[in-house]
Amino acid sequence: MRVPFQLWPLALVLSLSACQQSSAPVAAAAVESPPSPFKLTASVQEIMQAMVDPSADAVWDSVGTTISAKGIEDRQPRTDEEWKTARLQTITLIEATNLLMMENRHIVPAGGKMADEGAQGVLTTTEAQHQLDSQHQLFVQFATALNQTGVQMLKAIDAKDTAAMMEVGTDMDEVCESCHVKFWYPNQIFPKAPEGFGSDAKPNAAAGKTQ
Ligand code: HEC
Repeated sequence: MRVPFQLWPLALVLSLSACQQSSAPVAAAAVESPPSPFKLTASVQEIMQAMVDPSADAVWDSVGTTISAKGIEDRQPRTDEEWKTARLQTITLIEATNLLMMENRHIVPAGGKMADEGAQGVLTTTEAQHQLDSQHQLFVQFATALNQTGVQMLKAIDAKDTAAMMEVGTDMDEVCESCHVKFWYPNQIFPKAPEGFGSDAKPNAAAGKTQ
């Protein structure tokens, strides 16, 4: 369409406003992020019970040495099926850390209680929920550390390197413990371990580092 000279400014205004109109929804979308599609069902406690603890236990148990009356038994995955099981347990553990990182989780299910609540040093449910909400970034850091050890475990499994699996398993245990002493039982007094036992100081040392 040919616009007569004297109508140009009007045409310009019209086309500008048309342009603004069409870009408006895009700009609005960039400002307001769409509602999250995530549906939170589980509490932190249930993620521990359903995913983190069983998968970590399965991986820890898959390698090691048992000494009994029958002799020494070296445990390790041997068949393809056993390697695959160890791998999938580790996958569950790694992905569970993403669930832990999500915001606005309850610490325990509605009406539930912290594990060992009432025992010396254990946070009450209200205290633990407050700790989780107010120090969420720290909680995410521990979950990230667990994610990283999970990824290292996966590499060790894929390389069928049982020595590395044992080593990463020890690191993983320390990560579990360091989150627990911050968000579950921060005031626990650890009994002095017998001479030569040597691991009683770890949880406190780990807690000290992260404060
Ligand atoms: C990011 C923090 C965090 C990490 C990492 C973590 N946990 Fe937990 N875990 C918690 C909190 C908080 C609780 C307390 C909730 C409760 O009362 O169960 C808990 C509770 C537990 C419980 C008690 C469950 C119950 O109620 O009976 C077990 C078992 C457990 N964790 C195992 C593990 C293991 C094993 C690992 C490492 C492989 C681990 N957790 C890593 C935060 C963590």
